[in-house]
Amino acid sequence: MASLFDAVTLDDLKLANRMVMAPLTRSRAGAGNVPTDLMATYYTQRASAGLIITEATQVCPEGQGYLATPGIHSADQVAGWKKVNEQVHAAGGKTCLQLWHVGRISHSFFQPNGAAPVAPSAIQPAMKAYTDKGFEDCPMPRALETAEVQALVQVYKKAAQHAKEAGFDLVEVHGANGYLIDQFLRDKTNQRTDVYGGSIENRARFLMEVVRAVLEVYPAHRVGCRISPVSQFNDIDDSNPAALFGYVAQELGRLKLGYLHIIEGQTGGSRDADQRVDFAGLRAAFKQAGGRLTMVNNGYTKEMAESALSSGGADLVAFGVPFLANPDLVERFRQGHALNTPDQSTFYGGGEKGYTDYPRAAA
Ligand code: PHB
Repeated sequence: MASLFDAVTLDDLKLANRMVMAPLTRSRAGAGNVPTDLMATYYTQRASAGLIITEATQVCPEGQGYLATPGIHSADQVAGWKKVNEQVHAAGGKTCLQLWHVGRISHSFFQPNGAAPVAPSAIQPAMKAYTDKGFEDCPMPRALETAEVQALVQVYKKAAQHAKEAGFDLVEVHGANGYLIDQFLRDKTNQRTDVYGGSIENRARFLMEVVRAVLEVYPAHRVGCRISPVSQFNDIDDSNPAALFGYVAQELGRLKLGYLHIIEGQTGGSRDADQRVDFAGLRAAFKQAGGRLTMVNNGYTKEMAESALSSGGADLVAFGVPFLANPDLVERFRQGHALNTPDQSTFYGGGEKGYTDYPRAAA
């Protein structure tokens, strides 16, 4: 049975170990939402992870909902990410860009021409966005026209092309956490009456079209997808998450994706208060249908991770805050070293403090 420190291969791609750096919003992009040299340093410090999944990265200007999050839609952004990739690769790491659109979890402040954020349906989230005036209510979104949904699929494809140009080894389609794709998937936020709403098949159509468009750019083993079946983060929910995500896992498996990344329980919160979905069953459904690897996520310790790999049917484990606070997390786990204490006050925004200044363990 695999250990955290065993390599894993996806066709021509070899990950040095099973420890994945989870996507983490750090809000330190530069002007124009361009990745900076400091971001390159931060990711390179963590290159011993088997795989680094970048912070969520907007596929278009309308996809932004937070300050200083990077994009992958402008030439400058591609150039910035290229530097990140060159440095991480030189240090032996592998990178995956997370393709993101926030949908309704935004504010006119972030939108071109101060427009309303877009969503599957005009349902206002009970959420706040942090703008130049501080926290403000996310406004009522505008429901996308059918043709606009189809155009957005091409926006994701273009973003994947940019990711390839920038040198990313893989891309991850962000279908989790109440952002745009998840807003289509779940029935609390999708009340459409066209082919993108109603039945499970229809609500999953946008996700599947996005994934298929990305597969025109990257081979299947280099594409992952992230879902959060029971998470209510960002004011979202579904009346039957087991059926919805059972279908999604199977359909993604049929496309032979490189991995399915599942957030268990509430994002950043309780892992097991909500028992509506059998996560091991979802992993099995993905693999039985032809999917490659499964990645588990949410509050894993080293011990939980070893047990998920040895008996839980998982292949990869994503660690968020532990990687944030420990650039050498792989070595610390291997040697049994204590971990640094994360500083919450520097998670979002700022500079080097709490970003590139966490120490490595003494040798
Ligand atoms: C965030 O910026 O707070 C954020 C972004 C992406 C996620 C979750 C949280 O999936």
